[in-house]
Amino acid sequence: MNLLRRKTVTQLQAEALTDHRLKRALGATNLTTLGIGAIIGTGIFVLTGTVAAQNAGPAVVLSFVLSGVASIFAALCYSEFASLVPMAGSAYTYGYATLGELFAWIIGWDLILEYALGAVTVSIGWSGYVVSFFHDIGIHIPAQLSAARGTLITLADGTQVTAIFNLPAVIIIGIITLLLVIGIRESATVNNIIVFVKVAVVLLFIFGAAHAVNSANWHPFIPPSTGVRGQFGWSGVMQGAGIVFFAYIGFDAVSTAAQEAKNPQRDMPIGIIGSLLICTVLYIAVSAVATGIVPYLQLDVPDPIAVAADHAGLGWMAALIKLGAIAGLSSVILVMLLGQSRIFWTMADDGLLPPFVSKVHPKFRTPWITTILTGIVVAVFAALFTVREAGSLVSIGTLLAFVIVSIGVLVLRLREPELPRTFKTPAVWVVAPLGALSALYLMISLPWRTWERLIIWFVIGMFIYFLYSARRSKLAQPRN
Ligand code: ALA
Repeated sequence: MNLLRRKTVTQLQAEALTDHRLKRALGATNLTTLGIGAIIGTGIFVLTGTVAAQNAGPAVVLSFVLSGVASIFAALCYSEFASLVPMAGSAYTYGYATLGELFAWIIGWDLILEYALGAVTVSIGWSGYVVSFFHDIGIHIPAQLSAARGTLITLADGTQVTAIFNLPAVIIIGIITLLLVIGIRESATVNNIIVFVKVAVVLLFIFGAAHAVNSANWHPFIPPSTGVRGQFGWSGVMQGAGIVFFAYIGFDAVSTAAQEAKNPQRDMPIGIIGSLLICTVLYIAVSAVATGIVPYLQLDVPDPIAVAADHAGLGWMAALIKLGAIAGLSSVILVMLLGQSRIFWTMADDGLLPPFVSKVHPKFRTPWITTILTGIVVAVFAALFTVREAGSLVSIGTLLAFVIVSIGVLVLRLREPELPRTFKTPAVWVVAPLGALSALYLMISLPWRTWERLIIWFVIGMFIYFLYSARRSKLAQPRN
């Protein structure tokens, strides 16, 4: 069995540009808003405070800069691939073209951590915000229906109840799955509205609260280390960068919409890099303003941005920020589910997953079977399980994909230098190695137990590959 069999780039390009099964409805603007839709979520609304209070102090701003720079290296590499091989499989397909099928499988399997597990984690966060928002306006969602199965919840009167399942999480996944089945154009329109709301909330915070910044709160900018690695000092800034990386996840999801883009070769880089740059600037500004208003040690709360707004005399913004977070998380779920279903769709098309899931809806022209199956699996997990520390597993999965994509760009430059590349990663021999190394560095900064889980995940993946996918692969069939 040749496990490193490859699809050629020329073959993939021909497939990508002549395949019109999915509806090509997205231009540069929609792709950029899709990226922003996936990026701005809990990361900025929660982690800013946690990292400032526990790791980096006001230098959480530097953590955002470092993590943003690492993401930009990766975004440049993704852009070269996404314009060269504009396929919905994203990094999975790039792996197929450069490193061979086994690596493609590994990336595809790995991306489940980013997209499906990402959607599970974020929908549970969404449920928490919605329950609290409704509570604020006097509507009480029963505790039994708002947490993972078996969770013990103590009610206000002191009695304890056991949760049955997380209903709000199931509802949001159901609604978004339905939207994704109905159409890419419809999904993009809803995403645009949500992005408008959340960016407006973020801008309102930055400009509304800036007057309350007291520069004394920025001193010392990097609080001295407590002696424990990761608690302040430079090691705190670096560990903080690993944690806030979660906030940047999502720009790469733009590449899974390549077969729904009108002009992917031109617009993929705009969507990927544009969305990342916009969010990087917003993140730096939000973290600078928040730590400038509130002494960093007081930011260790679930809603640090609302606390900062409150300190700035904008107490009325608290509800708005909650709404921004709810809106933000909805579009993160939307783009994660979109990405996951496209990747499964491509893997099924290649024979690595059962072929029936690669069907496209005759009217809506969406990969409806993979969309519904992904929705069901994600909903079941979100309904029944607590996903403690799943965020770092989502991050490590994404970072691994960044490492492989950055190396893949170089491999392809060496192997097929003459390919017509509409977008070339600038200074590729510097940017791509830095992309791989910085992603690897951020991976190393994550806890060892995250690595253990990653390894277990791959062992499961290898079983499936050797028992099913390697034999069913289209490239393994005699006519190939
Ligand atoms: N970047 C996304 C978030 O912050 C995953 O929620």
